[in-house]
Amino acid sequence: MCGIVGYIGPRDAADICLAGLKRLEYRGYDSAGIATVDEGELHLRKVVGKLVNLEEVLQQEPLVGAPGIGHTRWATHGKPSKTNSHPHISTNGRIAVVHNGIIENYGQLRQQLTAEGYKFVSETDTEVMPHLVEKYYEGDLREAVRRAVGDLKGAFAFGVICADSPNELVAVRRFSPLVVGLGDGENYIASDMGAIRQETDKVYVIDDDELALITRDDVELTDLALNPIAREVFEIPWPAEAAQKAGHKHFMHKEIHEQPDAMHSCLAGRLSSPEAPLVLEGLQMSEQEIKDLRKVVFTACGTAYHAGMVGRFMMENLARVPAEVDLAAELRTRDPVVLDNTLAVVISQSGETADTLVALRDLREKGARVVSVLNVVDSSIARESDGVVYIQAGPEIGVASTKAYSLQVLTMAMIALHFAEVRGTADPATIRSLKEALLAVPDQSQELLDREEDVKAVAQHYYQMPNSLFLGRGINLPSAMEGALKLKEISYVHAEGYSAGEMKHGPIALVEPNLFTVAIAVAGEVYEKMIGNMQEIKARSGPVIGVANDGDDVIGDECDDMIWVPPCPELVSPITIAIPLQLLAYHIADLRGEHIDQPRNLAKTVTVE
Ligand code: M6R
Repeated sequence: MCGIVGYIGPRDAADICLAGLKRLEYRGYDSAGIATVDEGELHLRKVVGKLVNLEEVLQQEPLVGAPGIGHTRWATHGKPSKTNSHPHISTNGRIAVVHNGIIENYGQLRQQLTAEGYKFVSETDTEVMPHLVEKYYEGDLREAVRRAVGDLKGAFAFGVICADSPNELVAVRRFSPLVVGLGDGENYIASDMGAIRQETDKVYVIDDDELALITRDDVELTDLALNPIAREVFEIPWPAEAAQKAGHKHFMHKEIHEQPDAMHSCLAGRLSSPEAPLVLEGLQMSEQEIKDLRKVVFTACGTAYHAGMVGRFMMENLARVPAEVDLAAELRTRDPVVLDNTLAVVISQSGETADTLVALRDLREKGARVVSVLNVVDSSIARESDGVVYIQAGPEIGVASTKAYSLQVLTMAMIALHFAEVRGTADPATIRSLKEALLAVPDQSQELLDREEDVKAVAQHYYQMPNSLFLGRGINLPSAMEGALKLKEISYVHAEGYSAGEMKHGPIALVEPNLFTVAIAVAGEVYEKMIGNMQEIKARSGPVIGVANDGDDVIGDECDDMIWVPPCPELVSPITIAIPLQLLAYHIADLRGEHIDQPRNLAKTVTVE
């Protein structure tokens, strides 16, 4: 996830791009850059680090002219460095490109273009684009971009300028967000409306495979065959001050809503169809190494630990490898046995959590191979791992982890399925149907977000209660624990995540009318048992919120309130169930008036043991 912005008009583009990038910094902040066209030449400034560094450079060496494009980066291919930062430039130095997304076939394109004499200077996937545009440029920038995009597989939103077409800015998208802002004698592009809300409240929202040819006075939208598209102007309904959160009240809320897009990015290039094998290059493991595995140990903290619990379940169930999961802070005290061919799967959003890093080192010392599942690129954990699978969630700013969790679980599912495929431990029909279910997850997640008002109504019934229980079984025990963690950390409501089967061994003593229970009872192996546990709570006058599948006409009788989720295989259900539980926690905390993005006593990244 990166942020792009662009401007064409009478003012200096760099000023508008910098201001826009500041509002997009939530999308990435490891490096940044701006390119402009002035007096028939391309001019460029790039820096490593946050936008303040770019601002300093621009103060010392101002950039004049327009059009211009800017970028704030969240590294995916190639570490954060000046060379890898955007804009990327064509071999002849006449074309500049900013990109948000992932080009899946960049390796092959890079080889071809290198053989044709184009010079690559970065390690990025993006750099194929300026060279392709140069290759196809014959005086018509839009045509060159159109032909270049025809060679690409993957996700992208591009902004392109060319010193030889100084009156044009071209933009195009597939899967990555893009808007065109409409001014008076000037126009803009951006990854989201917030970036340009200061400048205009009128935008075109660009769809997949649409091209925009933008001049000072005109915006021409077409499909990739250059058929004109008539698009209604969208009026941004929120004020400029709300821009950074794109109109959301809190980052947490925004990040909950980013999940469908982030899931697309996480799946891109890895799982393309139910028939195709999974591609997880980051694992850095040969088929033989996967077949030889004797044990998998998952370790992590907090929310990431809950993702590890789901991972263990999936790994044993699908890949039939003995698997364990440990809280990173506890792992060392346990002194675990590491056999030959043990794989440690280390999960962390930040890649900097001290307990997790120490657990990693311990497992490595004992001889385990380490694959980490991370969000932030080039973190300490990444540097000490044998392989890294990035979840591609983009920056997570809210202290309560939301999109990182669902993407960690999605990644766990892909790893377990990949291992099952290689080891031949699950039948092809099961693998196929699970892949179908994973491909459906982004749409199902969107459906759940569209039902937010229903969850908010449930929150209204319970937000004043001081105590809660979250119950689940099997693969949804971690879902219950994660639901409870979300609620307690942002609302300060006492919340226990518990195995429903354990209730009768003690916790049921807590049940009374002022303690609400959230019970996860989606279709699957534990459904009947969950119904039994819910009846036990009802019999003791405890109010119950059921989380169940659409169309279940039995469960309603056992519950006071319902949260409905679309059906999917039980093994995949933790991914989508996470969303309404995040929303429930969010709305309870919001109704209680808490500081949701900065909960008391917590930090986003815990770098002390
Ligand atoms: O960056 P990490 O994923 O390693 O962080 C682990 C935990 O500190 C983190 O998940 C924490 O529990 C969150 N506040 C949960 O929302």
